This record gives sequence, structure tokens and C-alpha cells, in this order.
Amino acid sequence: MIQNVGNQLRRGLASVFSSRTSRKSASRAEDKDGIMADGEDYRNPTEVQMSQLVLPCHTNQRDELSIGQLLKWIDTTACLSAERHAGCPCVTASMDDIYFEHTISVGQVVNIKAKVNRAFNSSMEVGIQVTSEDMCSEKKWVVCKALATFVAQREFTKVKLKQITPRTEEEKTEHSVAAERRRMRLFYADTIEDLLANCVIQDAPSCADLDSRDCSHVVPAESTRVESVELVLPPHANHQGNAFGGQIMAWMENVATIAASRLCRALPTLKAIEMFHFRGPSQVGDRLVFKAIVNNAFKNSMEVGVCVEAYRQEAEAHRRHINSAFMTFVVLDADNQPRMLPWIRPQPGDGERRYREASARRKIRLDRRYIVSCKQTEMPLSVPWDPSNQVYLSYNNVSSLKMLVAKDNWVLSSEINQVRLYTLEDDKFLSFHMEMLVQVDAAQAFLLLSDLLRRPEWDKHYWRVELVQQVDEDDAIYHVISPALSADPKPQDFVILASRRKPCDNGDPYVIALRSVTLPTHQETKDYRRGETLCSGFCIWREGDQLTKVSYYNQATPGLLNYVTTNVAGLSSEFLTTFKACEQFLLDNRNDLAPSLQTL
Ligand code: COA
Ligand code: ADP
Repeated sequence: MIQNVGNQLRRGLASVFSSRTSRKSASRAEDKDGIMADGEDYRNPTEVQMSQLVLPCHTNQRDELSIGQLLKWIDTTACLSAERHAGCPCVTASMDDIYFEHTISVGQVVNIKAKVNRAFNSSMEVGIQVTSEDMCSEKKWVVCKALATFVAQREFTKVKLKQITPRTEEEKTEHSVAAERRRMRLFYADTIEDLLANCVIQDAPSCADLDSRDCSHVVPAESTRVESVELVLPPHANHQGNAFGGQIMAWMENVATIAASRLCRALPTLKAIEMFHFRGPSQVGDRLVFKAIVNNAFKNSMEVGVCVEAYRQEAEAHRRHINSAFMTFVVLDADNQPRMLPWIRPQPGDGERRYREASARRKIRLDRRYIVSCKQTEMPLSVPWDPSNQVYLSYNNVSSLKMLVAKDNWVLSSEINQVRLYTLEDDKFLSFHMEMLVQVDAAQAFLLLSDLLRRPEWDKHYWRVELVQQVDEDDAIYHVISPALSADPKPQDFVILASRRKPCDNGDPYVIALRSVTLPTHQETKDYRRGETLCSGFCIWREGDQLTKVSYYNQATPGLLNYVTTNVAGLSSEFLTTFKACEQFLLDNRNDLAPSLQTL
């Protein structure tokens, strides 16, 4: 019996590893740009491209391509990509934050590329890249990147989508991280609401506090208010008779620009649009009312809010709130530098509330941009933990690990005792990962390994662990004491954010991501050398009933490098011993969880 199980396990191992090897060699046949080894260009089957020559009729008050027009093109390209995958009509459900890096002039060409990153149930994430090109030189610029969610509908009923199979490394990364972005999107409204409720924001400053701005020039917010109506006609609608998302965004940008120019009495430039959600459809014949006002003016930028309501002529009193968006504008001088803006005086009541909320949103926006969009190599190892950035740090934690896992240049360094050790050398980091099959249920392995308080039971690098803060059901911060690893005899301590995720669908692994953060309550002390981990953690795949592939990943920071290379070179067997102890821990505790937890 025991021998049978052993044979089964070995057969399992062989098939898992051979399928893994063939997956790896298949992806190795493609280079980074997805060019197939046989010379045939690989093109994502959902990819749609649009190229537009910018003509005077597409421009705004500054003779540049109007962002409204660009949003229409973006939405159309993305919708066609979504529909190519879905094979039926799709509607725009949401658009993530967009930062515009460059303006585009008349005579330049705009190139838009969209492809479906991942399909969920009825919704898909579409990634969009916009570049501009000078026709007279070879210059090209990235204008912006955008992520939109489309929902597939047939006769207003949701459609179950087929899955996307990613092929290139870039597709695999986007596919994997899309699940994490979806999670963030669906919680976005609640997250912002919670943060706004909990943020301590100062009221409008008095003139004495006003940096170097001219106190004599204060604009009442009320004077920037705009209201405008549009009738949805057939040219504004898609094939289902719904107003196009891009058209609605273009109308929103139009009123927001008017509000912004009323504050600065100049020609404003739109820099960013905050993530927004199309709450409900509007059809041909609907009247759409757009209302905009400047919520707050900072030193060099202002936030304009726009809200959209729809009604039928026969039922004007019954207005549906279909959208709200927040846009950031600047005013550029002749050298393209942002000009200082006048101070704004909010209206009492709602105006003051929006003024305070705009300040909070600005802080959240800056955190998000820094944490979510910053290249990993440009981020400090430990980022301060703060209620306003916790969602983004948790996102960053999980997506960094998923990106590491999706890399296709992992090299098998050794295989001892059915434990495989892989390494990956990037420009800046040496990473390793260890992999084994364990006869335990995947959900149980996930529960056991995600509880860092139990890690000292199998990992001698974890002497003591204290739970500092249970942030939510899936995120917790721990303080870990570890033995010295380098010449410095002091023990080390780490403050670690552990973020765990269950699979989004069958092919997904369970993920436990770990990264360092800093906490004011747990500053570095003289007793310990502060250690840092940038990206490490576990991926756990269900390979069968009671058969789980457990992989541990680590992107080695300088403090750990010597230890890692000693192990990789085979001069130490500590990695192996520790991983085997992990296996024993999982086997010893395979039955000790309540059955209810095993339905994870
Ligand atoms: N961001 C991203 N996706 C979202 C979302 C948001 N803010 N809100 C809902 N979704 C996704 C859900 O995750 C779900 O995806 P799944 O099926 O893959 O799990 C899907 O949308 C349906 O969600 P559900 O809650 O069942 O439906 P809903 O009643 O909220 O309807 C819309 C969602 C988008 C269909 C609906 O709000 C709508 O019709 N909006 C207007 C669309 C429109 O007219 N756009 C502009 C013109 S094309
Ligand atoms: P909130 O008022 O909580 O910000 P809404 O969705 O009601 O959220 O509105 C979004 C934004 O639209 C507001 O922040 C404001 O900038 C703008 N707005 C809302 N109502 C009006 C209005 N009556 N007139 C002008 N602008 C408005």
C-alpha cells in the first residue's frame, strides 16, 4: 500500500515535472517579444490595432489631440478586442486610472493596441497601449496605458466567457496579475469610501498658510460650476443602442475642461483620470445631464469632479446616476511647466466635503501611482505601511510574486530528493525557487503555510514570530526574529506583510506573498539587524486529490545573497533540509484542520 502510494507519487511527480518542462520549453521557443522560433510572428488572437492621423477636427483649445477624442478611440479599440474574444456584444464596465504622459499634436499618428489579458466569468480585462508617432521623424512616445473591463452581453443577458490561454511571458504575467487587479477594482469604491471616512484631512487653509500663492486671488468654487445636457443619438450608440462608453467619457472630459478653465482662466491640460465605473446603461433617446465643478485647487494641479445622470423625456424626475469621475488638470506655461494655480474657496456644505475628499484622493492617488506603477527595481525594499496605501501595498505584494512566478527564464539548478531548485538571474536580482510534490490537500497546505505563526515549527530561520496586525481576512503584518546569516553576529528582525490569495479559477495557484514594510510601532532597534525581503512567498498548485505542488520563491536581497549562492552552488544543503522539514510539517498536520476550512 505504502509502496503503491510512493509509486503514484513518483508517477505524479514525473508527469507534473514533464508537463512543466514541456511548458517551459514551449515558452522558451518564443523570445521576449513573442516571436516564434520558426520565424513566424506570434500575434495575440484578441489583439486589435487602430492608427489614426490627428487632424484639426480632433483637437482641443490648445491645438492638441483632445483627450475626449482619444478616449473614444481607446474605448472602440478595446471594445473590438473584447468582442473578438467574446464573439458577442460587450459593454464597458470600468476604466482604471489613466495618466497621460504626452500630449499629441496635429499631423502626428496615434497608434492604439488592445488585447484581452484575462477573461473571468462574464467580464474581461482589456489592456490598452497608446503611442504617438511623428510622421516626419522616427520619434515615438508612449502616451498612456489603460486597463478597461468589458462585460459580454447577449440581449442584455450576461454571457459565460471562454478562458484565455496566455502564451508569452508578458501574457502570462498580465493574465496572472489581472486577477489581483480585478480584486482591487471590485473593492475600489468601498476602499475609497473607507479611506475618506478615516482620513484626517485639514479644512481649507487660511491665507497665512498658503505657500507662495497670491492670497488676493481666491476663486469661489461656485464660479467653476458647469451643467450641460446631451441627447443620445444613434451615432453615439453601439450596435445594442447603448451610448458608447468612449462617447460618455468624451462628454465628461468636455464639461470638466470648462470647469477647470473657469478656475485658471487659461487653457488647462488633462493629466489623469481616476478609475471609474459605468454604473448603468443609457440608450438612444436618453438625455444625459453632466455636472462638473472644481473640487480643490492644489499648488500646481486641480481636481475636477463630474457626475452624469440619465433620464427619458417622459420621466425627467426619474434620473439615474450612471457615472462619476475625478480628473486632474494642470496649466502648462510656454516651457511646458505647470503654472501655479489660484486658491479656491469651496461652498459651505457639500463643497467643503468635496474639498476635503479631493485632498484625500490626491494622497491616495500619489500612493497608488508610486506603489502600483513604480518599477520594482525603483521601489525601496521597505515601504511605510499606512491605512491609505494598504490596498496598493497588498496588491504590489501579490503582483510582484506573480510576476516572478511567470518569468520564463528559470533554470533548473539541481534536483535532490525530489526537490527541484531553480534560479533566475535578472539585471539586478538573483532569485531562486524550490518545488516539491506533497501528499496533502492544496487548501490545507495553503492554510498551514499562510499562518506565519506556525513557521518556526519547520523553518529554523524563523525563531520567533509575533502577529502585529491582522489587516483583513487575507493580509497580516508580522514581526519575525531570525538568526544572523552574515558575518554580523546580531540576530535579524523583519517586519513582513503577508498577503494570501485563493485561486481565482481552476488553473490558478494559491498564493502567499511576503514583503517588508515599515511600521512606526516597530522601528529598528540596537538588538537586531533589520532585514528586508522584497519579494518572496509560496505558490501552491492542486495537482490532484491529496497531491499538491508547493513552490517557495525568493528574490534575494543583498543581505541574503551569500547564503543563497552557497546553497545554489551546492556548498550547503540548508535549503533542502528546510524544504524537507516543510514537507514533514505539512504531512504531520494534514488532518488537523476543521473540515469547514477545507472547502477553501
Ligand atoms: N469594475 C470591473 N468589473 C466590474 C465592476 C467594476 N466596477 N462591477 C461589476 N463588474 C463585473 C463583475 O465582476 C462581473 O464580472 P464576472 O461576471 O466576470 O464575475 C460582471 O461585471 C457582472 O457583474 P454583476 O454584479 O453581475 O452585474 P452588474 O449588475 O453590476 O452589471 C454592468 C455590470 C457593467 C453590466 C452594468 O453595470 C452596466 O450595464 N453598466 C453600464 C455599461 C455601459 O453602458 N457602458 C457604457 C456603454 S458601452
Ligand atoms: P460626491 O458628491 O460624493 O463627490 P457625486 O458622484 O455626487 O459624488 O459627484 C461627483 C462629482 O461631480 C462631485 O465631486 C462634483 O465635483 C461633481 N458634481 C456633483 N454634483 C454636482 C453639481 N450639482 N454641480 C456641479 N458639479 C457637481
